[in-house]
Amino acid sequence: MSVTALIVAAGKGERLGGDIPKQYLPIGGKPALRWAVEALAGHPSIDAVRVVVGAGQQDLASAALHGMNVGDPIEGGPERSDSVLNGLEAISEGAVLVHDAARPFCPPEVVDRLIAALDKADGAVPVLAVADTLAQGAAFLDSPVDRKRLLRVQTPQAFHVEDLIYAYEEAGRSAATDESTVMLAAGLKVATVEGDPMLEKLTTPGDWARAEAILSSRLV
Ligand code: CTP
Ligand code: MG
Repeated sequence: MSVTALIVAAGKGERLGGDIPKQYLPIGGKPALRWAVEALAGHPSIDAVRVVVGAGQQDLASAALHGMNVGDPIEGGPERSDSVLNGLEAISEGAVLVHDAARPFCPPEVVDRLIAALDKADGAVPVLAVADTLAQGAAFLDSPVDRKRLLRVQTPQAFHVEDLIYAYEEAGRSAATDESTVMLAAGLKVATVEGDPMLEKLTTPGDWARAEAILSSRLV
């Protein structure tokens, strides 16, 4: 089974703000997108990597990806799911690992677990348990939430390409923030594998300090 990694990097990083979208900001001197591509391109089970880039971000992308074998960039769309769908048009068979450029560090063991789990399911996603107490509310607490069955879902997410295309056809383009949501809406079976704190998404300024700390601890 051929495995293609599809890295979506067409967002604007509005929650972070600033002039340059977050996936192009450096961590240890290297753009986050390049870390994400290197982590997957270097995995022995991954045959190809493709990158989805925002309109107007091509120059940033080609600088970040200089010298890397990722084919032509695929143009993204207004929502993340539009970017994923554009990317899927370029992948005809096998398995796809959909991954956020905003998650620069992907341990190879997570990819091993995902590919193994795909044997027995339509898709597989890395998850982490919730450590904090959870509740509903705003200025005052309303009600507690049982955290025992709640999971934090990360990327990369692995699917048989034809299943994911089917799921998008069934569920339609949506504001879903990931593909596991689309797969579930279409009634498909998504397995969970153990995720990794290294896969936390870069979203707000404090996340860069955490990413730099990961680097300086030489975990990657
Ligand atoms: N993404 C994309 N196309 C979009 C929106 C998001 O390819 N139209 C990508 C982002 O580049 C990122 C990943 O999807 O790698 C996860 O999205 P998120 O963390 O929400 O990034 P942004 O949408 O860029 O950030 P924000 O929501 O703060 O604007
Ligand atoms: Mg977003």
